[in-house]
Amino acid sequence: MSGMSDQPVLVVDFGTSSSAATVVVGEASYPVPDPVTGSGTWPSAVHWDGQSMIVGALAERRKRSEPTAYAAEFKRGMAADVPVALGDRRFRPIEQVAAVLTALRAEAERRYGTPIGRTVVTIPASYGPQDPRRAQMIAAAEAAGLGPVELLPEPVAAAFAPVTGPAPAPGELVLVYDLGGGTFDTALVRIDERWHEVLGHAAIDDCGGRDIDSLLASRIHADGQDWLSPLLITAANSQSEPASLRLGMAVTDFAKRIKHQLSDMPTVEDFLLPDTPAYRMTRADLAQLVAPLLDRTLDCCRRLLADLRVPAANLGSVLLVGGGARMPAVAEAVQHAFNRPLRQVEEPELATVQGAARWLPRSGPRTIRASAETNQMVPLSFTIPGGSARLLRWLIVPGQPYPAGTPLARVRLTGGALWDLVAATAGTLDRLLVAPSTDIASHQWLALSQS
Ligand SMILES: Nc1ncnc2c1ncn2[C@@H]1O[C@H](COP(=O)(O)OP(=O)(O)OP(=O)(O)O)[C@@H](O)[C@H]1O
Ligand SMILES: [Mg+2]
Repeated sequence: MSGMSDQPVLVVDFGTSSSAATVVVGEASYPVPDPVTGSGTWPSAVHWDGQSMIVGALAERRKRSEPTAYAAEFKRGMAADVPVALGDRRFRPIEQVAAVLTALRAEAERRYGTPIGRTVVTIPASYGPQDPRRAQMIAAAEAAGLGPVELLPEPVAAAFAPVTGPAPAPGELVLVYDLGGGTFDTALVRIDERWHEVLGHAAIDDCGGRDIDSLLASRIHADGQDWLSPLLITAANSQSEPASLRLGMAVTDFAKRIKHQLSDMPTVEDFLLPDTPAYRMTRADLAQLVAPLLDRTLDCCRRLLADLRVPAANLGSVLLVGGGARMPAVAEAVQHAFNRPLRQVEEPELATVQGAARWLPRSGPRTIRASAETNQMVPLSFTIPGGSARLLRWLIVPGQPYPAGTPLARVRLTGGALWDLVAATAGTLDRLLVAPSTDIASHQWLALSQS
């Protein structure tokens, strides 16, 4: 009988703008880069070609040729769950999520060489226990052919990420500062060996890299009025909606490219088109442009700390993650606001997936032993962490003898984690008292067994 620990596990961080995945086997982890670019992150984008969904960098490449069959940032649409038109069809946001997950699974299996046993998907801390987006994410992963799915909060995962300096110590309070593509997320986390505790979290929904891109795009529109306006008028007059869309996309991509370059260089000079004038910008210009947005993220952190009554001085460190953390202005602003040690990761957009991959082997066997079993017909009951869980399925059938240590049933805890209920002694299952897909409580009789 195989336990949960020896199968390959696919760990996925499904982000608003980009996603990342890695296959974990025991302590080892094998990244799953986008096959088109070789990059560790896949654009969370889809393109409907009339027959099938194209995803990731390939979809990104099609967006210029067929902008109306392209979609991105559908993670934001999950709450409203309104289908969007792609070419000749409409797709629910979770269908788009499932399409990306399907491609991640196929590429993971192709690279690793065997089917995936189970899956961990990270989700924002803001998806509370009753949030329908939890079930949607699980359904999307199942639709993508991914085995038993468990959910892990993004800041818990991120706090396990490999940092450039010393790792945070157990007991330390870490403020996770995650500036992503679509949202800003912060969480106060208490470090633990096996499962960091999220003491509180807060988010701003319209405060991510794409908001910086559109600020920068407006700035480019204003600065480049002389040469950009005629292009815009020509595009509008061409009577073709795609022409205007394409030009808009090109300006936004240009803005993003400038932003990225300014993370590595103090000044940048670039061209929208080969024959348009040089556009110049300095890191200081960009810092000034994004200052109000960064102020909102810092206020969000301050409010969280105030709500939790934790003075900033009590923070052990602030962990900077998410692609936005590559901007030097972020570290400066956070340092200035809190004056606490900063922890940084080599690849901030991979912090969540890499952290989740490191959490997995540390999370232990996650099995629950039966409380008491004697030499007769006995009820099987278990002490369940958190007091309750959902029984997903029985792993053995009545009449089947089992040795001690056999996983009898699989449950999902309220937080989303999967655990196995394990026999303390050998026995034979006589009768099931609880059906799959029911909620169960600690010490409830789940089955009668002959031991
Ligand atoms: N070198 C860089 N400099 C500045 N920003 C960058 C750089 N590299 C990536 N980014 C930005 O990081 C963002 C993507 O970050 P990330 O992958 O962490 O987001 P996400 O996880 O998809 O989003 P979310 O966390 O909101 O769901 C994009 O807006 C991208 O432009
Ligand atoms: Mg993210």
